Amino acid sequence: MRVSRLRELKPTILKIGGSVITDKDKELEVRMQTINRLAEEIREASVQNLIIVHGGGSFGHPLAQRYAITEGFKEQTQKAGFSETHHVMTVLNGLFMDALIWRNIPAVSITPSSCIITKNGRIQRFEDAPLKMLLKMGFFPVLYGDAVLDSKLGFTILSGDQLVSMLATKLNAERIVIGVDVDGLYDDDPRVKKTAKMFKHLTLEELKRLESKLGKPTTCDVTGGMFGKIVELLPAIEQGIPVTIVNATKPNYIYKVIKGKKVKGTIIEKE
Ligand SMILES: Nc1ncnc2c1ncn2[C@@H]1O[C@H](COP(=O)(O)OP(=O)(O)OP(=O)(O)O)[C@@H](O)[C@H]1O
Ligand SMILES: [Mg+2]
Repeated sequence: MRVSRLRELKPTILKIGGSVITDKDKELEVRMQTINRLAEEIREASVQNLIIVHGGGSFGHPLAQRYAITEGFKEQTQKAGFSETHHVMTVLNGLFMDALIWRNIPAVSITPSSCIITKNGRIQRFEDAPLKMLLKMGFFPVLYGDAVLDSKLGFTILSGDQLVSMLATKLNAERIVIGVDVDGLYDDDPRVKKTAKMFKHLTLEELKRLESKLGKPTTCDVTGGMFGKIVELLPAIEQGIPVTIVNATKPNYIYKVIKGKKVKGTIIEKE
């Protein structure tokens, strides 16, 4: 059978936050049990056309911050920092891939720094042929926030959130699922303000109105935390791709949501 006839492309894009699979209050602290549980949930759900993107958490962010990688290449000493930031992301990705592959999930890692170049921090070039072919063949491509080369800055940080949004718009995704360490999107940071109120449903207009009020990151997050995430997701929502934000630290939430079942969380839709 010809590969091109195997499957109609309309993937689900699943982002597993660094806030879920690592402890962002410490450095290089992986939550292996959580990774294993999520891999189990992904296997059990046995859905097709799934692209997984994971964040940097306590692996990528602290190093990126220490060496000011987001700001670009300014001095020679940053070079080893760029290498290290990229390297720790491959280590975290390796742990994530182990958990998937040991469960017989046909997941294949795609290294963003090898197929993407940004311009002033925005994705400029993306060699998408391998990803598309993997999808058509029924593999699960796995990408992650990474230290990447940048045609203006020399290098920078590409967030998993920008990747999710770009992949969703480019591939006209069915939907985006964002797993984080809180129950959804609130009117303020729920880890700081205990009285913060969670939104169950938001339209694009409602989201735009509240955008500026969302909390700035309190843990180390060089890509803007929840605020940065929402800003990145806007183009995908604009294109009509619905976004569900759920708590991936809670067992079975990711399983249920990728199976299309209802769970506590925030749904954002164009209208
Ligand atoms: N308005 C808000 N609603 C919900 N969470 C918020 C809000 N403002 C700030 N936050 C914080 O955002 C955090 C999640 O974003 P963060 O960028 O830290 O995680 P992540 O994207 O999963 O991690 P990574 O960037 O490593 O992938 C939550 O832990 C929460 O404390
Ligand atoms: Mg983040």
